[in-house]
Amino acid sequence: MTALAATQTNPTAAPANDDRAAFLREFLRAPFTVAALTPSGRPLSEAVTATVPHTGEPLVVELGPGTGAFTAAIQRRLAGRGRHLAIEINARFADRLAARYPGVDLAVADAGSLTDLLAQRGHGPADVIVSGLPWAAFTPDRQDDLLDAVTANLTPDGVFTTFAYTHTRWAPPALRLRRTLRARFEEVVQGRTVWANLPPASVYYCRRPRTEG
Ligand SMILES: C[S@@+](CC[C@H](N)C(=O)[O-])C[C@H]1O[C@@H](n2cnc3c(N)ncnc32)[C@H](O)[C@@H]1O
Repeated sequence: MTALAATQTNPTAAPANDDRAAFLREFLRAPFTVAALTPSGRPLSEAVTATVPHTGEPLVVELGPGTGAFTAAIQRRLAGRGRHLAIEINARFADRLAARYPGVDLAVADAGSLTDLLAQRGHGPADVIVSGLPWAAFTPDRQDDLLDAVTANLTPDGVFTTFAYTHTRWAPPALRLRRTLRARFEEVVQGRTVWANLPPASVYYCRRPRTEG
């Protein structure tokens, strides 16, 4: 069984060793962009992607897929339906993902260019946006720009999910992220801590983006 197949069939699977090694390598190259030592595990990936609908042809956008922990979960949930656009700034991660997931539309780009990427493809707003972006590593302005791109490109009844590591929850960037999410969405629900992740993390489920006017 391949490493990918193993993580797809074992619900408690930790990331494959190959993915951990790639992740650590990229963290050492770009610590403030990767901002984690190891990929998310299956329990966190399931929690983050629980918003992908089980029916219809949704447009799912994934920001910062890394080695593909959430990508695998989204693909399992879509099971051939809809469209899945993944936006990764790191070309080495993107190459690995493109080889593994030929069905995913992979853009090597900054998540901040989401509006252009959707327009280039003739897509409308997304039904679901899933983020693996390292919010705690971003300046306030950067957080704002990226969240502008998210709210501008989500359908009115769309949903945005992101996660934060529990140990950083009282750090200023994490506090700011929570405040900013509440200012930009009518509903922000924080899920229970996923203790099985390394490190433990919780998910924010954000609905009804507030739009100007
Ligand atoms: C904490 S890792 C999460 C990776 C994966 N989603 C997971 O949970 O295992 C952050 C990922 O976001 C990517 N990233 C950081 N800034 C980005 C940006 N502005 N646009 C797109 N991807 C970005 C990094 O290269 C990395 O793959």
